[in-house]
Amino acid sequence: MATPPAPHAGSCVTAQEPCCGDTPRPAAAGRLPRHVAIIMDGNGRWAQARGLPRIEGHRRGVATVRRITEHCARLGIEQLTLYCLSSENWRRPPAELSFLMHLLEQYMIEERTLLMREGIRLAMIGRRDGLPAATLEALDTTVAMCANNPGMRLCLAINYGSRGEIADAARKLATEVRAGRLEPEAIDEELFASRLDTAGMPDPDLLIRTAGEMRISNFLLWQISYAELWVTDVAWPDFMESHFDEAVAAFAGRERRFGGLSIS
Ligand code: IPE
Ligand code: IPE
Ligand code: MG
Repeated sequence: MATPPAPHAGSCVTAQEPCCGDTPRPAAAGRLPRHVAIIMDGNGRWAQARGLPRIEGHRRGVATVRRITEHCARLGIEQLTLYCLSSENWRRPPAELSFLMHLLEQYMIEERTLLMREGIRLAMIGRRDGLPAATLEALDTTVAMCANNPGMRLCLAINYGSRGEIADAARKLATEVRAGRLEPEAIDEELFASRLDTAGMPDPDLLIRTAGEMRISNFLLWQISYAELWVTDVAWPDFMESHFDEAVAAFAGRERRFGGLSIS
């Protein structure tokens, strides 16, 4: 299992480029995205296409989460962020939502073995308000249990909405200014990012969306400024390690210019 470098803001561009004081990494490692974020979509459609209730798709989706988490940890990915529940998903029928909450709680408990075996740390982004106490308790216990693990960070976006996160960050800064602890002139991109839920995490290098929709659905709007996008028609329950590898291979072939000019 690879031990990733300490978390930092921003993304390494190439293998040769030292990043935030890191020593240069080998070329092969440089082709691997440090941080992959996934919009895990298509559970409901997967189930409906098979004449099953939508919740069956969510159940199967959890199995994919397990496989992909283990795969990423073994590849040496530094962070995997999974969009589990958006702040807009509360518009769904109560029965589906309560099933999702139950599934999340069960997942937090059952996942402990895998997380400890693979040395994975767990983090959550999103609003805790509105989540059942039992789900939060299971989450908090698992986060604490994995806190000193040396490997990949698995970040779960639960009850997460990017606009809400940005508005919260603006409110925190405004409160600090009003209290006299901060000068408005001191607010820059770095300081703003430090008030987001993702403070201290690198930005995603690669954003994957399953099930074909060409949209972001209020996910990490600030953080994906320069992420490479990869969308597949494959629904999340059918998403295999080989699909992940395909996305990583596409990423490796991309030239990231960050607004600069082509290096060739
Ligand atoms: C993604 O699958 C999981 C969640 C949003 C919780 P969906 O439930 O959105 O599946 P589709 O898009 O309806 O097929
Ligand atoms: C995005 O999927 C949210 C998650 C994967 C948790 P949605 O199914 O909610 O997105 P829309 O509604 O199709 O944009
Ligand atoms: Mg969907």
